[in-house]
Amino acid sequence: MGIANNTILARSASAGVSPLITQTHSPPTLLSAYDPRAARASPSTSRRRCYGAALKVHRTNRGETMNLNGAGALVTGASSGIGLATAKALSTRGARLALVGRDRRRLAELVAEVGGTAIVADLTDEVSITRCVEESAAHLGAIDILVNNAGAGWTGAFTHMPVTVIDQLIRLNLRAAILLARELTPPMIDRGRGHIVNVASIAGHLGVGGETVYSATKAALIIFSEGLRQEVAGSGVGVTVVSPGVVATEFFNRQGAPYSRSWPRPITPEKVAQVIVRSIETGQPEAIVPKWLGLVARLKGGLPGLYRTLNRRFG
Ligand SMILES: NC(=O)c1ccc[n+]([C@@H]2O[C@H](COP(=O)([O-])OP(=O)(O)OC[C@H]3O[C@@H](n4cnc5c(N)ncnc54)[C@H](OP(=O)(O)O)[C@@H]3O)[C@@H](O)[C@H]2O)c1
Repeated sequence: MGIANNTILARSASAGVSPLITQTHSPPTLLSAYDPRAARASPSTSRRRCYGAALKVHRTNRGETMNLNGAGALVTGASSGIGLATAKALSTRGARLALVGRDRRRLAELVAEVGGTAIVADLTDEVSITRCVEESAAHLGAIDILVNNAGAGWTGAFTHMPVTVIDQLIRLNLRAAILLARELTPPMIDRGRGHIVNVASIAGHLGVGGETVYSATKAALIIFSEGLRQEVAGSGVGVTVVSPGVVATEFFNRQGAPYSRSWPRPITPEKVAQVIVRSIETGQPEAIVPKWLGLVARLKGGLPGLYRTLNRRFG
């Protein structure tokens, strides 16, 4: 893994920790490969070039691969559910861990099982975020992997949602993830090695009534991940956004509305953890878990009218 020759990273000394990333790297596009004159002269040559470019675009999209053995990983929301399962899965691959959450007892139990260090921090607080990065770096040295997983929801009518809860969801689900990425991306680029995984939600693709602000934070996290991936392309740093459907964790109980539907059936947090780990190892840019929910997201994107009709009827 290394910084591509055609990528220039310029960090302004006067700008403190704020990175300025300028890229001259231009990934191949289908349009750039299409030559209308060649197409008229020889349709098969043009078609071959187009397929070749499509393959290059596909490879470019896959991003950097990473061997997890010995890698330093900071996992937020590690005290429960998806974060806890991800910490265990990373540890079996040989990663060294900094585990973040608010529940001291649960974090201590996890550290006893998988090693690493526990960092008790409320990520809605900016000072705690900085401390979290400092303590992680003190324990791990280089931080190669950031799993932005901590998150919370709230169910109910948007018009009844307290402002404090709106702020809390935005601060935790979106702002904390962005600030952690802001702290950790520059050193990853400097080393030409790193991977950021943002755990979003299928709600961020579809928008869910009764979870309006939660859906909005996750939609923003998905788009943030897309933009960040483009900015760091070719630097050796990968970005993945993982969007789970319903997962059997404490998430729904904590938001005050236990999951009561019989369909879709919740998947296990271990299943999501597997996808997270594989996405880091293979450089996969995005994943929806379970896969079939990706079809629903595509239907919403491609045929929004039909999606809304079906959603009204089947919920
Ligand atoms: N479960 C689902 O159906 C589902 C579906 C799609 C997406 N997701 C997403 O998956 C991620 C993990 O959720 P989960 O299902 O594993 O839920 P969970 O079991 O409730 O875990 C949430 C984690 O976030 C941490 N957390 C909450 N508030 C925090 C704060 N202010 N500061 C620091 N950490 C905080 C919790 O730590 P403490 O308990 O120690 O505070 C806990 O470790 C979330 O981003 C969620 O939006 C979940």
